[in-house]
Amino acid sequence: MDRNDVVKRYEPVKDNMLNILHELQNNNPSNYLTTEDLKWVAEYLNTTYSSVYGVVRYYSMFSLKPRGKFVIRVCNSPLCHMVDDDKLIQSIKNQLSIGLDETTDDSLFSLESSECLGHCAEAPVMMINDKVYKNLNSSKIENIFQSIRSNEKNKKL
Ligand code: FES
Repeated sequence: MDRNDVVKRYEPVKDNMLNILHELQNNNPSNYLTTEDLKWVAEYLNTTYSSVYGVVRYYSMFSLKPRGKFVIRVCNSPLCHMVDDDKLIQSIKNQLSIGLDETTDDSLFSLESSECLGHCAEAPVMMINDKVYKNLNSSKIENIFQSIRSNEKNKKL
């Protein structure tokens, strides 16, 4: 899909920059923003490449490198950390055989750490794309991954 099609419902004003960047990233099957995307947004919003680049670098949800279809963001803020003591992230690493900021060989999952995801009372917490998962443990995570893999497999049939 052409960039113009992706963002046509957004007026070319700077207040729309975050929404436009989100749309472009979500429409890239590899879940990231290219240099061409940033240049295009700068031109569309009549601003500089460096101001767009600065926004992309500031917000951790944006990536400048290819990622999996499902981006797992594990909360690494103090409360989740205290409740969980890194067991969640270790379990994910083991189950997917990847480290932080890495992507599985099948390009399905990428693993990132995140600041507070806003659900501290239900720690430990992670997000996969836009969905929040709370009160996690190893078996819940295993079920979540199995369910995603199975859905993806069914889509291919
Ligand atoms: S500290 Fe983890 S969600 Fe807030």
